[in-house]
Amino acid sequence: MTRVIIDCDPGHDDAIALVLAHRYAQVLGISTVSGNAPLSETTANALMVTALLDVDTPVHAGAARPLVGEPRHAQVVHGASGLDGVERIEHRRTVESLNAIEFLLDAPDKDVWIVAIGPLTNLALALERDPSWVRRIAGISIMGGSATVGNTTRVAEFNIFADPEAAARVFGAGAELRMCGLNLTHQLRTTDAIVSRLQSVGTARARFAAQVFDYLHLRMEDLIGEREAALHDPCAVLAVTHPELIEMEPRAVDVELEGTLTRGMTVVDQRSSRRQDPANASVAYRIDAHRAMDLVLECMA
Ligand code: BDR
Ligand code: CA
Repeated sequence: MTRVIIDCDPGHDDAIALVLAHRYAQVLGISTVSGNAPLSETTANALMVTALLDVDTPVHAGAARPLVGEPRHAQVVHGASGLDGVERIEHRRTVESLNAIEFLLDAPDKDVWIVAIGPLTNLALALERDPSWVRRIAGISIMGGSATVGNTTRVAEFNIFADPEAAARVFGAGAELRMCGLNLTHQLRTTDAIVSRLQSVGTARARFAAQVFDYLHLRMEDLIGEREAALHDPCAVLAVTHPELIEMEPRAVDVELEGTLTRGMTVVDQRSSRRQDPANASVAYRIDAHRAMDLVLECMA
């Protein structure tokens, strides 16, 4: 089984990614970061998901703010708790440490993938301490950025926009990178039909997933008038556990830090001529959404 560390900011889709990772990979640990909600909330949510799954995966709290500027959150989608709309589960789990950076630096091995599904602050801080860290891991699978449209701005995706300086360091670190951006994750969508299927499964995790999707559908109905939601973060897990489902192309990707309209954009070299810049990432373009959704449903049983 692929060995992974999940760096996350749960977050509804992060929570589903955690369920998938525990089913299809060996999860060595979870590091949390400020993102969808403040760090205290994302850490509490990560602990709650491990309680739901009845696993003792260590949870390490990381950065409470981006490298530059003030923290940005995505309450408009995920609510103030980062996981609004789901029943809270009583449990006794506590954090393993308040030093996710130390954990990230210590844990790796040549076969360990970091699955990064929140702002990239923890990873950038680890790189600052030890730039050779990326050569001691298998690679980094990122949900972030886009080769087309943005969501937080016209061209910037939330995880990158929330800490562009951190993202720039990670994209420039020389790591084996897989990038599942919005151009990919918009292809994997939940619907009310999926919620109905989950409601009939009868397990605690299926009930949880049904509540997660139902809440996201409600928010999307408000925001864009459609009861459907993209399952962003699970794509970055599948990119390492089931890479055969995802078509990726080597591309040069840089993060824009200066643009007045484009700060936080992942600028992907998609020129078809031979003048392409050297690739630093495998950019995901297509996913077998049918099979991917089957895998999501399978792990709720
Ligand atoms: C990303 O931002 C967050 O709101 C989601 O959890 C996902 O990681 C999508 O832009
Ligand atoms: Ca996330």
